[in-house]
Amino acid sequence: MIENIKVDYHIPVLYEETLENLVKNLDGVYVDCTLGGGGHSEGILKRLSEKGNLISIDQDQEAINFAGKRLEEYRNKHQIFKDNFLNLDTVIYMAGFEKVDGILMDIGVSSKQLDDPDRGFSYKYDTRLDMRMDKSSPFSAYELLNQYPEEEISRIIYEYGEERHARKIARFIVEARSEKPIETTGDLVAIIKRAIKGKSQKHPAKKTFQAIRIEVNRELDVLKNSIEKAVDSLKPGGRLAIITFHSLEDRIVKNMFKEMSVECVCPSELLICKCNHKAKVKLVTRKPIIPKNNELDFNNRAHSSKLRVVERLG
Ligand SMILES: C[S@@+](CC[C@H](N)C(=O)[O-])C[C@H]1O[C@@H](n2cnc3c(N)ncnc32)[C@H](O)[C@@H]1O
Repeated sequence: MIENIKVDYHIPVLYEETLENLVKNLDGVYVDCTLGGGGHSEGILKRLSEKGNLISIDQDQEAINFAGKRLEEYRNKHQIFKDNFLNLDTVIYMAGFEKVDGILMDIGVSSKQLDDPDRGFSYKYDTRLDMRMDKSSPFSAYELLNQYPEEEISRIIYEYGEERHARKIARFIVEARSEKPIETTGDLVAIIKRAIKGKSQKHPAKKTFQAIRIEVNRELDVLKNSIEKAVDSLKPGGRLAIITFHSLEDRIVKNMFKEMSVECVCPSELLICKCNHKAKVKLVTRKPIIPKNNELDFNNRAHSSKLRVVERLG
């Protein structure tokens, strides 16, 4: 059971499954790369002994303010850093450690970020275009939509939103901004609706909003560039657990975990290995762990979540 969850901010997904697979050394040092509302962090802190330590990272100051307060009682074994988890190795060093026993990444945005009308993540509210998880970043959805070339906008919507109308939406965006800058999420929704006519069960702006959010926060690049760093920061026997929410992210995690778990990555037609590749991890989960029905009953956002875990070899 999830103990004492703060459902108004974010319900942690795959909570028990994550803690069970991640926290193996109760005196160990752990990193939660995505603090959010602090649900998973709290679960880790509750399990750790007084000798254990948790380092939590988030790039969103609002998440840090909220979770910092929530987890105040654990401050003797808990440090929080405002940073991108791309810098997790530096954060671990700054926290006073070299290698750690476990790392968690619960990728994407929190329910709070998504539901906050002022953050501009949702097509449900009409507000200034933004979508930055880190509000100190100079690049937001406004710059993307008003400055990127049409081709690039089309690629982003197609690749990150898997939206088959990407080309048309990009053309309509560029046409609209030649009249006046696109200022609000409402402007963007209206442009998308004009570009995609016809009926669909899903909101017509859903895929485009996902794509823009991924680009604004460089989510896939950050994930790709953080996985090996995370594995290199683990002690032998330490574990990396990653929760993803859509197929693009899961594919990256699955492929990188697989590549890091094999002894050779030479093309199959080569008879002798020439790659000098060495396995760094063993797969703890061959298939991803997905939520059970009882979790889906109370948390709609858990629907597409998948948990994959690897263990660092000695
Ligand atoms: C899905 S929520 C995590 C929820 C959390 N596990 C909980 O139990 O409440 C993701 C959080 O990670 C943060 N985040 C996402 N990508 C990040 C990155 N590259 N670096 C730092 N924080 C990131 C977001 O700001 C957000 O607060």
